[in-house]
Amino acid sequence: MIALGSDHGGYKLKEAVKKYFDANNIEYKDCGTNNEDSVDYAVYALAVTDAIKSGECEKGILFCGTGLGISIAANKVKGIRAAVCTNEFCAEMCRRHNNANIIAFGGRVITEEQCLKMTDIFLNTEFEGGRHAQRVAQIEKIEKDGKL
Ligand code: RB5
Repeated sequence: MIALGSDHGGYKLKEAVKKYFDANNIEYKDCGTNNEDSVDYAVYALAVTDAIKSGECEKGILFCGTGLGISIAANKVKGIRAAVCTNEFCAEMCRRHNNANIIAFGGRVITEEQCLKMTDIFLNTEFEGGRHAQRVAQIEKIEKDGKL
């Protein structure tokens, strides 16, 4: 199950991803927002990270105007690695090297087509582990102890 969350700036892209998921039988949890009225992105970042932390969803996709605010908010939650992506290379690498569990998109930055391509890559690329596992473990150590 994939958790989806957006503010007003990312709402249209979120709806496009839902349509894509419906057409491809991919299960999702829509954590809002539900229209283009102005809202605060941190609320939706937290709804998605809660869904991941509880185990209900294995990954998440966040959307705001730029992908920046909503990913910064999500990255404050322990165990969350949210990557803002604007191209397919980064969408692949955030899985292969960073084991990102959230990808974030900007509704005012990328097209719907780019978003769907990156979504597909994000969902179908595995973490490589190896030397990258050690680096991700260092991120977790910083989260836990505030130092390496
Ligand atoms: C909302 O106008 C906008 O600031 C938000 O969607 C996002 O881009 C913030 O990083």
